[in-house]
Formats: sequence, C-alpha cells, structure tokens
Amino acid sequence: MTMRESLERLEALKREAELGGGEARIRAQHERGKLSARERLELLLDEDSFVELDRFVTHRSTEFGLDSRKYLGDGVVTGYGMIHGRLVYVFSQDFTVFGGSLSEAHAEKIVKIQDMALRNGAPVIGLNDSGGARIQEGVVSLGGYADIFLRNTLASGVIPQISVVLGPCAGGAVYSPAITDFVYMVRGTSFMFVTGPGVVKTVTHEEIDMEGLGGADIHAETSGVAHFAHDSEAESLTAVRELFRYVPSNNAEPPPVGEDRDSHARRSEKILEIIPDNPNRPYDITEIIHEIADGRGFYEVHAGFARNLVTGFAHLGGHSVGIVANQPAVLAGVLDIDASDKGARFVRFCDAFNIPLVVLEDVPGFLPGVAQEHGGIIRHGAKLLYAFCEATVPKVTVITRKAYGGAYDVMNSKHVRGDINLAWPSAEIAVMGPKGAVEILFRKEIAAAEDPEVATEARMAEYREKFANPYVAAARGFVDDVIDPRDTRARLINALDMLRDKRDSNPPKKHGNIPL
Ligand code: HXC
Repeated sequence: MTMRESLERLEALKREAELGGGEARIRAQHERGKLSARERLELLLDEDSFVELDRFVTHRSTEFGLDSRKYLGDGVVTGYGMIHGRLVYVFSQDFTVFGGSLSEAHAEKIVKIQDMALRNGAPVIGLNDSGGARIQEGVVSLGGYADIFLRNTLASGVIPQISVVLGPCAGGAVYSPAITDFVYMVRGTSFMFVTGPGVVKTVTHEEIDMEGLGGADIHAETSGVAHFAHDSEAESLTAVRELFRYVPSNNAEPPPVGEDRDSHARRSEKILEIIPDNPNRPYDITEIIHEIADGRGFYEVHAGFARNLVTGFAHLGGHSVGIVANQPAVLAGVLDIDASDKGARFVRFCDAFNIPLVVLEDVPGFLPGVAQEHGGIIRHGAKLLYAFCEATVPKVTVITRKAYGGAYDVMNSKHVRGDINLAWPSAEIAVMGPKGAVEILFRKEIAAAEDPEVATEARMAEYREKFANPYVAAARGFVDDVIDPRDTRARLINALDMLRDKRDSNPPKKHGNIPL
C-alpha cells in the first residue's frame, strides 16, 4: 500500500469512528433532545483542544453474534483537552453503540484515561450515557466497572473528578458518579437509580416513572446524589467549565486566582438593610454572599438540597474560597441530617484541594425531633464537626447573628482551629436562645410570679444583656474581633491574604475514621 493509500484508509477509519453507531442512531439521539458523545465534548472543551485516544479499539466478545457487530471506539470517546487553557481528561459514552453499554474494552479505555489523569495531576470529567454493563460480556463487564471504581477511589482527593449524567445510569454503574466529587444532571433526559421502575414495582408494589424515581430534580433536591440540575446539556456542560474557575487541577496546586478586579475595600451599605432588626426574622444569606464576593459572583453547589445550609465557591480579593453558610431563610438555618452531610462533603472537598473555607454563621442549633434523632442526627452532625476539625486549609468565620449550642462549636469555631473568627455586633453566642434558657433557669420563679409573661421578658432581657452578644466570646479571644458588617469583605480578604502561606497538619495516620 502506498503512503497515499494508507492515508486514505486512515481518514476512512476516522470517519467511521466518528459516526459511532451510525447516522440513524445519532438522529434518534437528537430526537430525544440529547447530543452525541462528540458534540458534548465540543461544548465542554476549549475550541479544537480535544485529542482523542483509542479510537480504533473494538470489543473482543463473540457471544450473541457480537463478533459480526463491531464499532470503532466501542461506545466511548476518550482523550484529553483543555478548559480555560488547563488540561483535563475526558470520557464521553456513546449511546449509539450498544446503548453506551460498558464492555471490557470500553472499561479499559476509561481506565487508561483515569491512570493518565492521576499520573499527570489533571481532573477527569466523565460524560455518562449508558445502559450499564454490556450484557453479552457478563462478568468481564462487571470487572471493568470494578476497575473504574477502584481508580475513582484512589484518585479521590488527588484530582477533581466530575460526573455529568446525560442519559441512563443504572445499577452498579451509579457508583462511579457517586464516588466522584460533583454530579451534574439534566432534567428530562438523565436518570440514576440502582433498580429501575419495573423492579421497584415488582418488589415494593410502588408505581413510579423514571423521572420521579431518579430524575435530575429528585437527585438534586431530595436524595442529594446530584449537586446540579439543569434544563439542557449545553447549560450543564457550561456549568462544568465554570466550576474550573474555582478548583485546582490537583491537590498539590493552589486554586486558580479570580480574574475580577473588584475593589478589596468595597464597603457594603446594603448589608445593614439585609439583616433585620428583629433577631427572629429571616433573611437570605445568599444576598450577603453576593455583597461580599468579587464581582458579586457565587457558584452555588447543591443549591436545591438541604437548603438550610448554603455551600459554594466564590472569589474574594482573587482568592478562590469555599463558602459554608447557614441559611436563616430556610428552617431558620438549623443544622439537620441532610445539611450536615452536605456541609461535611463540601468542607472535605475544599480541604483536599487547598481551597480556603469562609463560614458565615447564623445557626439556632441542631434540629430537634424524633425523626432527626432516630435518623441519626448524632452520627450525621458528627460528620460536619469532624470535617471542620480535620480541615487544615485557611479557615475564617463570621458570626452574623446566632451561634447557639453545639452548632457554635461545629461551625468552624476558634476551638476547632478556626484561624480568624469575626463577629458582627448583632451576634448572639450562647448555650441556647434566651427563651429556652430562661425557662430552664427560672422555671420556679416564673411560675410563682404575678405575671409570668412579664417575669419571663425581664429575665430574657437580662440573659440577652449577659450572654446573647459577641463580647463575652470576644473577652475570651474566642472571636478575634467584632466588626462593622459593612467592612466584612475587606476584613475577609485581609484575613485570606494573611493566611496565604498557612501550614498546618494532622497527626500521621493511615486515614481517620469519619463517622459515616
Ligand atoms: C448491551 C445494551 C444494553 C446493555 C442497551 N443496549 N443496554 N446492549 N448491554 N446493558 C442496547 C440495546 O440492545 C439497543 O441495541 C441499544 O442499546 C439501545 O437500547 P434501547 O433499549 O433500544 O434504548 P432505550 O429504549 O432508550 O432504553 C435504554 C435503556 C435500556 C433504559 C438503557 O436499553 C435498558 O434498560 N438497558 C439495560 C439496562 C440494564 O439493566 N443494564 C444493566 C444494569 S446492571 P440496538 O442494537 O437495538 O440498537 C449494571 C451492573 C453494573 O450495569 C455493575 C457495577 C457493579
């Protein structure tokens, strides 16, 4: 064969590989509102940056007539490319080839990407659209999944791992996304479940459709499996690109510096309007976050799940930070089971990837109730406490209003190695709220009083004066300063600048035993 002929052959094979399962199946994919595996990579990566590997790989199975049905690439497009000029490794499952199902060869392609990413310190982004284990390959396919799970686990905390679910993701296959750091889903076309609606009906007699069982909103709001739900694939993939404005490529790198040149000293008069005079009135903590962040930007994570705690990324004076904030507008900002899980996972991600933590605290305590106690609020609340205790990144707290009870300790108090802990003059730091405290301390006195209501009010005023203010804590050094709320942004940036070279570590150990 001449060079010209071999080049023609190469081009023909490339064209064949690009068609995946064929034009008809690509059309069917489009008709369902889904993009092809390659179109998705185009949206995800910087223009013309994708370099494909293993496009000539095919499966080796001979069962059920498979020897006569081979497709170049075997149902997954793999390689590397750039996001904002930074290297990322990608795999994109191709539903047009055997429903994107995972064969031995398909798994080997993903594993190769995972190994390269770990060796070269760059993130892995997986675009999932698959019918699960390739049924014709049996245990070999199951083994392929296990090879992927192992690498997901070994890479955890070393490189960021992102899963975008853009079609079915069922059975054991869900456990790869579940191990990764952030899961993105699209309403109407992504589904995740361990057993589908049919099996559920047989076993529990519950009738439910795919969207209701494992659609994007269910996982983003109820189960917490997904961190993001979007209306289209384009929005979802754009959101993944946006995430990389905040996160580093690996755990040995600092996070990227924000580009917004917002004034460090910008004062916010609006903060005084946002906080109500009545300490029992709600306000929206995200308004405060927007007021203090560079360019008022905030990349919220898990926005629909456990909304009583807000988590997300922002830049402050260029520093990429992870914000953890109680949300007084939802359940008065209490900590419950889901909020503890959500917060703990986010804190651990930030700590693993050198992203400083900024905590905005307004918390009346842990949520009381039989359901919470029986559901294990002790076990779950301990996760958040543990996560803050073990974190060694710069940690700054601002107590905006309430810091009551155990929640005071948990929310990055000075005692658990908070580096700079500030309070607004409106802060109330105490074992419990005034009403509860007075009812316990002065029960007999109030019962004997001529007017119990007046007696209660008088004792509450006394309690507030003594305890429900920031100055008792400040006198002990448990808060480093009481600040004018309007200067919060400047004080946070100042603290983050000061902590830029912070070095702290935990005792040597194989790993801790976080209460799971
Ligand atoms: C081989 C598969 C396949 C699979 C789909 N296909 N799933 N081939 N192995 N797991 C093929 C179909 O035969 C079909 O081929 C093409 O993909 C498209 O599938 P359709 O059924 O026509 O598409 P659709 O109607 O959209 O339904 C998609 C689906 C359904 C919901 C994903 O195909 C399905 O239920 N598949 C099986 C899901 C499953 O039970 N997987 C195993 C889960 S357990 P043709 O040639 O007709 O185009 C698991 C274990 C993981 O994954 C282990 C980890 C521990």
